[in-house]
Amino acid sequence: MFRSETDTEVLPHLIERELKAGGGDLEQAVIRALSLVEGAYAIAVVSADYPDEIVAACNSSPLVVGIGEKELYLASDELAFGGKVGAVAHLKDGEVVVLKRNGSYTFRGIPLSEVKTRLEKPSVVDEVNKGGHAHYMYKEILEQPQAMRNVLAGRLREGNPVTFGGFTPDIEGRLRDARRITLVGCGTSLFAAMAGKAFTERLSGVVCEAEQAAEFYYRDPAITSGDVVIGISQSGETADTLRAMTLAKERHALCLGVTNRVGSALSKRVRAGIYLHAGPEVAVASTKAFTAQAAALMLLAVHLAELKKCPVSEELVGRLLLLPALMADTLRKEDEIKRIAYQCKDAKRMIVIGRGYGLPLALEAALKIREVAYIDAHGLSASELKHGTLALVEPGVPVVAVMPSGALRDKMLSNLEEVKARGGRVILLEPPQDLPDELVPIVLAPLVQLLAYHLGVARGVDVDQPRNLAKSVTVE
Ligand code: F6R
Repeated sequence: MFRSETDTEVLPHLIERELKAGGGDLEQAVIRALSLVEGAYAIAVVSADYPDEIVAACNSSPLVVGIGEKELYLASDELAFGGKVGAVAHLKDGEVVVLKRNGSYTFRGIPLSEVKTRLEKPSVVDEVNKGGHAHYMYKEILEQPQAMRNVLAGRLREGNPVTFGGFTPDIEGRLRDARRITLVGCGTSLFAAMAGKAFTERLSGVVCEAEQAAEFYYRDPAITSGDVVIGISQSGETADTLRAMTLAKERHALCLGVTNRVGSALSKRVRAGIYLHAGPEVAVASTKAFTAQAAALMLLAVHLAELKKCPVSEELVGRLLLLPALMADTLRKEDEIKRIAYQCKDAKRMIVIGRGYGLPLALEAALKIREVAYIDAHGLSASELKHGTLALVEPGVPVVAVMPSGALRDKMLSNLEEVKARGGRVILLEPPQDLPDELVPIVLAPLVQLLAYHLGVARGVDVDQPRNLAKSVTVE
């Protein structure tokens, strides 16, 4: 009999009990203990009495074994191996691996059974370095023109319809006839989903929702076989997003995924999907994955419009092809944004406002500033200011405006007059001239990322690894 307040502590006690009862074989004790528990875990068991082995197992949480030249590794994500392994094995739910000091490894099932070793080539090779920059986050912000090239490659060509590898005629038919499309994600991926919702409804006329994955799961949504549910996740390992997709699958929706990680749990849980090919994202704060996700969802919206025979403006398609160049132009504004960041570095609070297509980017900007600069930043629709948040505007409070390029521009300007009248310090993020409004959240994203980055650096934050956060949130 043992007591504990935390579920993690239960496992060592249970394993200890099984060890005593079963005559001292660590591997078998772990297997017996795990056959008694339910729930999500990824564990590595070490014991002072068994210094030559590690027994690891997982269920509904990722665990990867890395096989190096002389060493074995265990991690929740291949990225952690940093290009040091020649092969990897992703454990399946209910599997155990025993790693021995002599370099051998064996896979087992729970309850005890033989499992064939499945070694794969690592999908993340040695692209993982800072490229001469001080931080991964900065490098990843600069990589966005290339990430755009990769996301468009082979999918969008002038004068041709959008194509996605892996979209079979059956999938295309279900997409075309969908009664509703729901995009689920968390954090930055949720904001990319919100941008995707706006594009999809505008271009195809199909009802599209963007939902926080855990909220979607727990509200018991009315999903049926006429629904299409798309999981949006950079890592493809976010527990809440995976759970939402499992629910959608159980309810017979067509399940698709948008992820940066080939072979991730999300990619295995969906019928088909779109790989971003944005390259490894190492910094905890997501940057290039946000713009790549938004661009992928824009392509999907164009594709859906084509399937439904809705007109798609040539100008928009032309500008999509120019995204790599447009991103490079935005990055050239870094000096200006860095100067602003250093001027605002002592701010206790910041407000970021957007309208229309720019709103998801305003929410993303506030998240990024909270996350890497530890400033209490609020993101909202400019039209919401007067419904409460204007009370926070005092002399000197920085108010960043993601400026629309379309009809909402004048509305935004009048919202900003209210801010100026209260002494707020207005910072305008302006899209290039004649940019279709739909592209504002993608093309202006590097500005908000650079703003957050330079604020964080100026405030002495470890921008690549902000406190209390993890890159992949593999627990609920
Ligand atoms: C913020 C950030 C997180 C992730 C979120 C979802 O900069 O990185 O909010 O976007 O944890 O992660 P993925 O996209 O891997 O599902």
